[in-house]
Amino acid sequence: MSKLKHTALGALLLLATLGANADEKLRIGLMLPYTGTYAALGTAITNGFKLHVEENGGKLGGRAVEFFTVDDESDPAKATENANKLIKRDRVDVLVGSVHSGVALAMAKVARETNTLMVVPNAGADELTGPLCAPNIFRTSFTNWQSAYAMGHEVAARKRRSVVTLTWKYTAGQQSIDGFKEAFEKDGGKVVKDLNLPFPNVEFQPFLTEIAALKPDAVFVFFSGAGAVKFVKDYAAAGLNKTIPLYATGFLTDGTLEAMGEAGQGLVTTLHYADGILNPKNQSFRLRYAKAFKSQPDVFAVQGYDAAQLIDAGLAAVAGDVSKRAELVKAMESARIESPRGPFVLSKAHNPIQDIYLRKAEGKENKLVSVSIKALADPARGCRM
Ligand code: PHB
Repeated sequence: MSKLKHTALGALLLLATLGANADEKLRIGLMLPYTGTYAALGTAITNGFKLHVEENGGKLGGRAVEFFTVDDESDPAKATENANKLIKRDRVDVLVGSVHSGVALAMAKVARETNTLMVVPNAGADELTGPLCAPNIFRTSFTNWQSAYAMGHEVAARKRRSVVTLTWKYTAGQQSIDGFKEAFEKDGGKVVKDLNLPFPNVEFQPFLTEIAALKPDAVFVFFSGAGAVKFVKDYAAAGLNKTIPLYATGFLTDGTLEAMGEAGQGLVTTLHYADGILNPKNQSFRLRYAKAFKSQPDVFAVQGYDAAQLIDAGLAAVAGDVSKRAELVKAMESARIESPRGPFVLSKAHNPIQDIYLRKAEGKENKLVSVSIKALADPARGCRM
């Protein structure tokens, strides 16, 4: 065959593959909680993700999107089976999830075994971009260490010397306490007691009694979703908000302020998002989200939106051809995401390097106070990639 004919045939074959691929829908598996204490978080992530797809004419990387959805119930015991369902039965191209760190860790194991591309739109488990980091695993949210570490410095700067911590006893709670403690004790503070209860229990009374007796300078907690609402109301009902200041990562107050009412007002938190961030991307995102879903977006919606943006950036570089995995991964690794939180890039371990904001709850908003730590990267301890 002449060289010319050979090249022409090659081009034809290439077009045929691209054509077939572009016709076929991109299969996105959403594995998120739609029931239980984190139900609202799963919904916000889904809404955010779909908002970006809609802005893109229903496509990612030029391909129409088909969704496969599983309610993971924030139950790690069901996570392996649920992930396998999406990968083996539904043959998803990308696995997106989840909120709960224990669920995401089980998903990542399946994703590694099957070499499925996975994007984490919330779960903070440090391991996902630490010892378990992998070319096929990406995150558009945070590590548990990241937002809690910033709060450790903030509480120390407020001259609070002794702190009692309280959280649910599982990966996210424990790693948040560790991150907080690392910064707080480096700055001269002392965590005098760590208290915890099983996830997702909300029987807080015995712990509030113990805190009142211990009389620390401050309390640091990790709670989120419906459990966070109950905790903040109970803390105020016990009168503790008048005597012992409560600090937390912003997961406590994102998406929950309305339900907390008066009890949530004035709470100071750290997080990679705040309601009043003045950048054009955030302003247009908030307007479009409110119009589409008749509710205000929160950090979870932002993380879902950015998961879609990251997948889109990767797929655009390979014209929607997921079989070009190496190029796809490279494009995702080098993407600069124009997030409503402010632009971010990924670390070598595939976790956002991002500003952590100090916020204060006022009305229904977590108002931006200042940047607590600029461009904070997770140390990614144990990641070899
Ligand atoms: C987690 O389990 O990693 C988690 C859950 C809810 C949050 C943040 C982190 O708001």
